[in-house]
Amino acid sequence: VAARIRFKILMLAYKAKHGVAPSYLTALITPLRDSDIFGVTYPKSGTIWLQQILILIEAKGDLTATKDENNATRVSWIEVIGGEKKFLLEPSPRLRITHLPYSLLPAGLKQKKGKVIYVARNPKDVLVSFYHFHDFGVFLETPKDFNDFFEKFMDGQVFGSSWFEHIKAYHTHRDEMNFLYITYEEMIQDLTDLEIDNVVEHSRFDSMRHNNKANYRTVSDQILNHKKGTFLRKGSVGDWKNHFTVAQSEHFDKVFKEEMKDIPLFFSWD
Ligand code: PPS
Repeated sequence: VAARIRFKILMLAYKAKHGVAPSYLTALITPLRDSDIFGVTYPKSGTIWLQQILILIEAKGDLTATKDENNATRVSWIEVIGGEKKFLLEPSPRLRITHLPYSLLPAGLKQKKGKVIYVARNPKDVLVSFYHFHDFGVFLETPKDFNDFFEKFMDGQVFGSSWFEHIKAYHTHRDEMNFLYITYEEMIQDLTDLEIDNVVEHSRFDSMRHNNKANYRTVSDQILNHKKGTFLRKGSVGDWKNHFTVAQSEHFDKVFKEEMKDIPLFFSWD
C-alpha cells in the first residue's frame, strides 16, 4: 500500500509539473473499457512475443502493421511516461503491456473491466535471459558475473523485483480479473507455417461444410435428417435478425440484461 501511495504521489507530481498525466496514471484514474487488453509479464517472459501476437491479431495477420512502428509503440507500456492522450482517445480495443506487480495494476482490471493476459516463463530461463539482457541493455547494470546476477535475481534485487512475488500475487488474485494465464513454454510448442496454414484452411466454414466428417454428414439419417439441411448450417453473425420480430428482440434484451447483470460477458450481435 505504501509503495502504491508513493507511486501515486510521484505520478501526481509529474502531472503537476508537466501538465499531463503519464499513461499509467491515466489508466489508474480513468474508467477502463471492457475491450481493453493488458498483457502482463515479469521481464524476459515473452513480452515482445505477446505484443507481436496482439498486434497481428488486431491487424488480422497483416504484417505491415508491425513494420512501421516497434512493438512497444503499438502495444505500449503503461508504466512508461507519455501516451496518456493516446490512452484516452484510442479506439477499442486498446492494447497495453506492463511488468507492474499486481499491487500497482490499474484498479479497473481488478473489477473485471478489461482483460489480463499473463505470460509466465520458467524462472530458470527467465533468469538466464535477464542476465544476458543486463549486458545488452545499456540502461541496466552490467552483471559482475553470472553468480552475482543469480544471487540478485533470487533476492528480487533486479528490475521488475522478485519473480516469485510477481507471479504469486497475480496467481492469488486471478479470480478478481478476466484473467488468461499462459506460459512461454506452451506458446513455443510451435506448428510449422504449413501446419498453421492447414489449420486455418481446414477450420474455415466452407472447408468444414464440405468435409463429411466435420459436417456430421456420415451420421445416420435416423439421428440427423440430412434431407432438411447440414450441421454447418450458415455460420454467420447476426442471423437472428432474419428470425426475431422486434418484440422478440426487445423481450430477449430485457431477459438478457437481468440474467447477465453480474456476469461480465459481452457478445457481438451484428
Ligand atoms: S522484456 O525485456 O521483458 O520485454 O523481454 P521479453 O520480451 O519478455 O523476453 C525476451 C525473451 O523472449 C524471447 N522471445 C521469443 N521466444 C520464442 N519465440 C518468439 N517469437 C519470441 N519472441 C521473444 C526472446 O528471445 C528472449 O528470450 P531469450 O531466452 O533471451 O532468447
